[in-house]
Amino acid sequence: MAAAPVLPFRIGQGWDTHRIEPGRPMILGGVRVPCDFGFAGHSDADVLFHAVTDAVLGALALGDIGMHFPDTAPEWKGADSLQFLQHALKLAAENGFALSNVDSTILLERPKLKDFRAVIRESLARAVSLPVSSVSVKFKTGEKVGPVGEGRSCEAQAVVLLAKLESDRRSRSEG
Ligand code: C5P
Ligand code: MG
Repeated sequence: MAAAPVLPFRIGQGWDTHRIEPGRPMILGGVRVPCDFGFAGHSDADVLFHAVTDAVLGALALGDIGMHFPDTAPEWKGADSLQFLQHALKLAAENGFALSNVDSTILLERPKLKDFRAVIRESLARAVSLPVSSVSVKFKTGEKVGPVGEGRSCEAQAVVLLAKLESDRRSRSEG
């Protein structure tokens, strides 16, 4: 049987969850959402950036966020999660890939996030250097069921597509 062709794309998925904690800042996609609770975590607990970071690492088959940024390391305490995402994108570029699009879902019972959709999308698009039209951020409740639905946690899911850069493909076929 002939080997499957190697397509110039890599797909990746990421998932993350953080416990809800009163008094902590709520950071979603680099945006501070005004709320009387936020998310527990070693870093800034940006569940969306963490899920997108894992999706990029997954597309590259380069492990997960904890491998690159252990949550026991003092230097990542309170860290801005933008740096995790940018590290994953740097690894993508070093491997000849560019991010093509991001789709994501944040699962949170309350507050309603839809008024923050535009600003979170813009912030995520800026973080990954994509036009807003290539970045999707969706919201769901947990329908009062399970840890999300009972208001105990927030989850995020992300899917990314990486495309092999033309210059990288050319240099490999020539080399
Ligand atoms: O979870 P459910 O399907 O009931 O959510 C309905 C809509 O409410 C979602 O499509 C989303 O636009 C919005 N939503 C939101 N903030 C949340 C959860 C859902 O704005 N925390
Ligand atoms: Mg996380």
